[in-house]
Amino acid sequence: LVGAAFGAQAQNYPTKTITMVVPFAAGGPTDTVARLVAQSMGATLKQQIIVENVGGAGGTIGAARVAKSAPDGYTIFLHHIGQSTAPALYRKLSYNAIDSFEPIGLVTDVPMTLIARANFPAKDFKELLAYVKANKEKVTYANAGLGSASHLCGMLFQTAIGVDLTTVPYKGTGPAMNDMLGGQVDIMCDQTTNTTSQIKGGKVKVYGVTTKTRLASMPNVPTMNEAGLPGFEVAVWHGLYAPKGTPKPVVDQLSNALRVALKDPTVKQRFADLGTEPVADNRARPEALRAHLKSEIDRWGPIITKAGQYAD
Ligand code: MLT
Repeated sequence: LVGAAFGAQAQNYPTKTITMVVPFAAGGPTDTVARLVAQSMGATLKQQIIVENVGGAGGTIGAARVAKSAPDGYTIFLHHIGQSTAPALYRKLSYNAIDSFEPIGLVTDVPMTLIARANFPAKDFKELLAYVKANKEKVTYANAGLGSASHLCGMLFQTAIGVDLTTVPYKGTGPAMNDMLGGQVDIMCDQTTNTTSQIKGGKVKVYGVTTKTRLASMPNVPTMNEAGLPGFEVAVWHGLYAPKGTPKPVVDQLSNALRVALKDPTVKQRFADLGTEPVADNRARPEALRAHLKSEIDRWGPIITKAGQYAD
């Protein structure tokens, strides 16, 4: 009987507002991607999708909340690469990064930029490297907690240059950026969805972008390869999930609405302005996200274990 009830429910889904959980504070890059996608998906599904920011612990607080939510299609989850790094970083997760969720589809791969507060005393990466090495204890590095993309990029950066910096964790790089604009924190590696406007406005210094080739949205910004850190490439992939057990017809409807959103001219233009682009249509599907998440968990596990960073 319950199956039938669920079946009927799935039949005329959605009949009420949907919540999209973002596991970081409002105003950051993940929030920016979520709100663009939620707006368009809501139009397709003819129901409002409201974004709920559940920050903390590098995105794992939000993930745990969704893992425990009713699998009825009214709670969905937008997260990024952090979904694949958390299993190696957190030894006591209350959920399984794969089995506690139903994948809906991949969304976008966002480049990162190495930035500093506007009056940081280094005009290019060479000077940054020299200054950081000469002032190890003084330089502060902002991130959004263990497991955030800014943490991952920072870990790779500090490993690459052989310097451990003082980390200042925030509930998202939205708040971190506010502190950087106020000169309260020195450097950060953050996604172009959060840094493009500040860089173009001259409000922060930029040392490089973590892509193979320069971005059309910021052609004057060198790649980290050009700047002096060869092979420093990081792209922050984002995925959309529902709790495990969400009925397949509902997951399919959500994947369809996601694919429509990724073709929406407004979404595509905003993504382009912010240095990114939607994934190809065939990747905005459950099986593509499931495969990518599995391969990323396998890829990052050994790297993180070698870097010796984890939380008990
Ligand atoms: C991250 O560093 O993972 C994100 O920038 C966090 C956020 O979206 O605020």
